[in-house]
Amino acid sequence: MANATADDKLSSFITAMPKLDLHVHIEGTLTPELRWDLATKHRIPLPFSTASALRASYNHLYATLRADGSNALPVFLSHYYGGMDVLRDEADFYALATHFLRACAAAHVRYVEPFFDVQAHTRRGVPAAAVLDGLLRAKRDMASSVGCNFVLCFLRDEPAAAADAAYAVCAPYAHRLFVGVGIDSDERGNPPAKFDDVFRRARADGLKVTAHCDVNQVNGHAHISQAVSEVGGGGLDRIDHGVNAGESPELIAAIRARGLGLTLCPQAYVIAKEARWGQWVRALVDEGVKVTIGSDDPAYMHGMGTAENMVLAAEACKLDTDEVVLLVRNAIDICWADADVKKNLESELDKFVKEWEG
Ligand code: ADE
Ligand code: ZN
Repeated sequence: MANATADDKLSSFITAMPKLDLHVHIEGTLTPELRWDLATKHRIPLPFSTASALRASYNHLYATLRADGSNALPVFLSHYYGGMDVLRDEADFYALATHFLRACAAAHVRYVEPFFDVQAHTRRGVPAAAVLDGLLRAKRDMASSVGCNFVLCFLRDEPAAAADAAYAVCAPYAHRLFVGVGIDSDERGNPPAKFDDVFRRARADGLKVTAHCDVNQVNGHAHISQAVSEVGGGGLDRIDHGVNAGESPELIAAIRARGLGLTLCPQAYVIAKEARWGQWVRALVDEGVKVTIGSDDPAYMHGMGTAENMVLAAEACKLDTDEVVLLVRNAIDICWADADVKKNLESELDKFVKEWEG
């Protein structure tokens, strides 16, 4: 295939191509507009007098995070957990997921594996069933437009026993709603090893296992190393972020040896003010690691979706058209969809590439 020569040509290609998003937090897709509507529905007071003032506060948060990337994750998380206070009943979770899935369909995103943080809701008094049933209904209603399997994430800054309890509550929805489990939230002092028991239990139940290893975390290399080969009985099935592996030939070799995929989110690295992320991703791609691009928390990251994050990666890593296609092929390879779904995704991608070339 001829390489794209102009940036705008490659951007148009990325926008139009069929895509997957394997790294997106469903609660991180809660737009200020939907938050406003749900607050109105439940008569929850917000410290803003209009929806547009609420929207402006998101722009302000984004500017603040970009101005000081040093503490970006904890600052972001406090807004993220605050924002979800308006999610109270089954219909709210249904609305959250259908809004996101509709946006995916409009952006040519064909298959997604969003995380959900059940503990962030149950600890506020929301019944787990409201979360699980609302997401399941949305997944089913939107199935003809976008393929979707959720990933149950445990809050790593809560005790391991809380993850065990959350898993027990959600387990009846395994394989219907979610196909894997992961860990997210504040990584400092909360290594993957803390959740070894629940990873092993989920795997024994036939689920996939993954862990966030966010950019530039304290003991970040050790966390990646645990995820690659130590926890869950020989290592996890995927790593969320893990971009710092790109600075370590040993980690690259270990990840490649296990054929693990990394779900990277460029906008998060821009916010973290990490200038080397492009060179790390370039190294990962050149060494044959299966990297893919996700959108993480688009509502809090300037509304940047999968395509916009792929454009960022293409620019920072000087990816050509073939390499952009490879990122999507990697996603199809490492996603946890059924074989027939993967085959259809592959065929649609092949057809798109052929037509674009022709
Ligand atoms: N939870 C939601 N978004 C997250 C992120 N980007 N990192 C860690 N935990 C999260
Ligand atoms: Zn994430």
